[in-house]
Amino acid sequence: MMETELTVVILAAGLGTRMESAKAKVLHRAGGQTLIEHVVDTALQLTSPDRIFVVVGHQADQVRRTLGSRGIGFIEQREQKGTGHALLVGRGVFSTLPGLLMVLYGDGPLISADTLRRLIAQQRESASAATLITTLLDNPHGYGRVIQDAGRVRAIVEQKAATPEQLQIKEINSGIYCFAAADFWSHIDQIQPDNPAKEYYLTDIVEILNRAGRSVRAMRICNPSEVLGINNRIELAKVDALFRMRKVEELMLAGVTIEKPETVTIDSRVCIGIDTVLEPFARILGTTTIGQECTVGACSIVQDAEIGNRVAVGPFTSILGSRIEDDAQVGPYSRLRMGAHVEAGAHVGNFVELKKTRLGAGAKAMHLAYLGDSDIGRGVNIGAGTITCNYDGVHKHATRIGDAAFVGSNSTLVAPVEIGAGAYLAAGSVITDPVPPDALGIGRARQVNKEGWARKRRKGSSG
Ligand code: UD1
Ligand code: CA
Repeated sequence: MMETELTVVILAAGLGTRMESAKAKVLHRAGGQTLIEHVVDTALQLTSPDRIFVVVGHQADQVRRTLGSRGIGFIEQREQKGTGHALLVGRGVFSTLPGLLMVLYGDGPLISADTLRRLIAQQRESASAATLITTLLDNPHGYGRVIQDAGRVRAIVEQKAATPEQLQIKEINSGIYCFAAADFWSHIDQIQPDNPAKEYYLTDIVEILNRAGRSVRAMRICNPSEVLGINNRIELAKVDALFRMRKVEELMLAGVTIEKPETVTIDSRVCIGIDTVLEPFARILGTTTIGQECTVGACSIVQDAEIGNRVAVGPFTSILGSRIEDDAQVGPYSRLRMGAHVEAGAHVGNFVELKKTRLGAGAKAMHLAYLGDSDIGRGVNIGAGTITCNYDGVHKHATRIGDAAFVGSNSTLVAPVEIGAGAYLAAGSVITDPVPPDALGIGRARQVNKEGWARKRRKGSSG
C-alpha cells in the first residue's frame, strides 16, 4: 500500500570525515550498492518518488547522478550547518506538502520498510506531533540520549551536552523521525544554533514541541542493527557483512545451496533458481540472474550475467555482461565478457576468452583460445590455441564460422574473415582469406625434412 500523504527527506549532505575519503560517505558501497541507493529504495516502498527528497551537499552532482533514474527530488545544502539546517534549506518545497514528514539518514542503509511502516502507523494512530525510533545500546557513546517522562519524549540530549546522569541513559535517538508536517513546519523556526558546534540540531525540535504543548513519542525497536549508522570503514564492513548475510539467508531459504556462506558475495538484486549450488568464494554481482540446478565454481565472479538452467560454471571463471544458455559448461578458468553469448549445450574450457562472441549450440572451445567479435555456428569445434585476430591496430573486425566447421589447433584467423559451414582448417594455419563451405583451408608452409642435417651440425660444432 502506498502512503500518499507521506514526504520522506533523506539527509545526505555530510562528507563523513571519519571515512578518511575523498568520496562522500553516502557514495560508499555496502551490499553491492551505494548507501544512499539502499535508503532511497527503501523510501520508494513507502511513498511515490515525487514525495522523496535527498538533501545533498558534498559531491552533490555524483549523488544526483547515482540516483538519477529514480525520479526523486533533490535539495542542495551548500554549507552543512546541522541536521536541523538540512531541513530548513528545503523548507520552501517541503512545507507545502501535507500529511506526514519522515526524516531518514543517507548513511543508515539497514532500516527496513517494515519498521518504517510501523513507525508511520504509530504516528497516524497517535495525537502526537512526532514519533521517533529509539533503541537500547550497551555502548550509547556518541548518540543523542532520549529523555522520557510518563511515556513521552521530553528531549534529546547530544553526547557533548549531556550531564553525567544523562550519559547513563542507554536509550538512543536513531535519527529517524515521523512528524505531523504541520506541527513540524510551524515550529522549526525556533531551532537555534545555541550549542558549542554552532549547529542547528534537528533534535532540538523535541523540546520545542513539548514547550508548545505538543507530545512526542518513541517507538523503541529491539534490533539495533537496523539503525546502525556508518561513520568509518570498519562500520562500513560490518554493515556490508550484514547485507551479505541477509541475502545469502534469503537465497538459502528459497532453495539455493551455498557452501561456506560466509565466503560468498552476492549483491541484493541477484536472482538464483532452486537447487543451484554456489561453491565457496563465489561472487555473484550486479543484475545477474542464474537459473535452476546450476553450479557456480569456487572463486568464480559472475557480474550482470544471464545464466540459464543446468549450467556448470567451473572454478576461477569470470563472466561479465554475458549470457549462457541451458546445459552449457564454462570453465574452469574461462573469461567471458562484453556480450559473450554461449548457446545451449556449448562448452568453453580452460583459458578460453570470449568477447562479443556468440558460440553456437553444442559448439566447443575447450582450451587456450581468444575468440573476439566472432559469430561461431552450431556444433563448431575450436581447437586449442585458436586466436581470432580481431584488431588491426585501428579497427575491430569480425570473424564468422559456419555451423559444424572444424578449426584445427593453433589456427590464426585474421579478421575480417569467414569460414563456411562444415569446412576444416588445418592445424597451425594462418587464415586470411575466406574458406568455402566443406573445404579444407591450409595456410602454412609445407613441411620439409632435411636428411642428416642435425648430425652434420653436431659434427661441425665439435670440430
Ligand atoms: C545525529 C543526532 C543524534 C542521533 C544520531 C544517530 C542530531 C543533532 N543528532 O547525530 O541525536 O543519535 O544522529 O545517528 O541530529 N547531515 C546533513 N547536513 C548537515 C548535517 C548532517 O545532511 O548539515 C546528514 C549527514 O550527512 C548524516 C546525517 O545528517 O547522514 C546525520 O548527521 P551526523 O552529523 O552524523 O549526526 P550525528 O552527530 O550522528
Ligand atoms: Ca552519524
